[in-house]
Amino acid sequence: MGLKLSLRPISSATVTLATGTAFEVASDETILEAAGKAGIWLPSACRTGACGSCKVTVSSGDFFHAGSVAALSAAEQDGCTALLCRAHALGDLQLDVAELPEPPPSERPAVPARVVGLIRESEHVMRLTLRFSALDPLDFIPGQFIGLRHSDGFDRSFSIANAPRVDGTVDLHVGRVAGGVFTGHVFEHLRVNDILRVTGPFGNFTCASVVRPAIFIAGGTGIAPVRAILESLAGDSFAAPVYVYWGSRTQSGLYLDRELREFSERHGIAYIPVVSDRADAWSGRAGLVHEAVLQDFDDLSAFDIYACGSPAMVDAAHKAVLARGARRDRFFSDCFHPSRPAADSQLNTREVWS
Ligand SMILES: Cc1cc2nc3c(=O)[nH]c(=O)nc-3n(C[C@H](O)[C@H](O)[C@H](O)COP(=O)(O)OP(=O)(O)OC[C@H]3O[C@@H](n4cnc5c(N)ncnc54)[C@H](O)[C@@H]3O)c2cc1C
Ligand code: FES
Repeated sequence: MGLKLSLRPISSATVTLATGTAFEVASDETILEAAGKAGIWLPSACRTGACGSCKVTVSSGDFFHAGSVAALSAAEQDGCTALLCRAHALGDLQLDVAELPEPPPSERPAVPARVVGLIRESEHVMRLTLRFSALDPLDFIPGQFIGLRHSDGFDRSFSIANAPRVDGTVDLHVGRVAGGVFTGHVFEHLRVNDILRVTGPFGNFTCASVVRPAIFIAGGTGIAPVRAILESLAGDSFAAPVYVYWGSRTQSGLYLDRELREFSERHGIAYIPVVSDRADAWSGRAGLVHEAVLQDFDDLSAFDIYACGSPAMVDAAHKAVLARGARRDRFFSDCFHPSRPAADSQLNTREVWS
């Protein structure tokens, strides 16, 4: 239960970026809105607190969030991490972020992409392959995600599962959500040759090179961006040890198991699949995926850690690896939150709960 505070409304405050650029923000507008009005482009995508694209570190000053902040893990609700699409200033602020040289992908119109492949990888995962037109190619960094626009107006986020290809296609691993409008549509109605509208790419869950030992921890379809990163790095060979832990409730959910075993042998990395349902007929590592990491390492201070999957998994991994000495600034994550906020309750901007 939080503490309810009454705030003195500010008329306006000054927000200063790491580059020294400054702009004014009024109490009834988000920092992202105020930046846009001032002609300053800051990273953003969903504008509903769901994707994390607008996440920044606040170096000084106070703020509060109004509305759902699903993209913040429990550890990030620390008063220093802000989602600019939800954050309101309580006074002057300094943000550890630089403005973008051009509009963020969210400001650009959605582009068409043709469905060129629909392959059932497992009972609950569909590999959806999209081709972009030569006029609107998708220029992405491995690890990033895109938004697929649905007729209800909300974009659903899906991570790209491959490194850039010559033919411009991308694979997505779409996990079916029980009762999910969009993922249900993909499984039941989407057909090859259909056209989808795509926004993005978004996100900074990327890894340009492995210079320190790295541990990737993925849950379910959280393996998609990890696969893209591994594929992109494979050409340069890995300069430091790499460990890939992939957790699934059941063995049948390890839909890339054979591919990852072959990849690990070819490139000399460690691949550790972990199944959590102990009733499953599985003879490999059992339990939760982050627990397997803890069983294998007493000290994680030398590692870069990349975690991707459900918010619960990423939070558990974050807590566990920090307790084993991992550096906070060497932990990188992408949480697969629902893209469409379930209850997008708006807080009164005169009140804050802490
Ligand atoms: C940055 C990012 C990257 C993502 N990448 C992937 C990916 O590569 N593969 C993938 O399968 N998913 C991914 N997701 C999650 C995916 O976007 C959602 O599962 C999707 O939006 C569900 O849409 P839907 O219309 O089927 O569900 P909705 O109809 O919007 O929701 C139906 C119900 O299910 C709940 N729900 C929706 N999604 C989830 C979820 N992910 N977990 C738990 N409950 C949920 C909703 O709150 C609601 O109650 C990603 C999410 C983010 C934010
Ligand atoms: S743009 Fe703020 S969380 Fe997506």
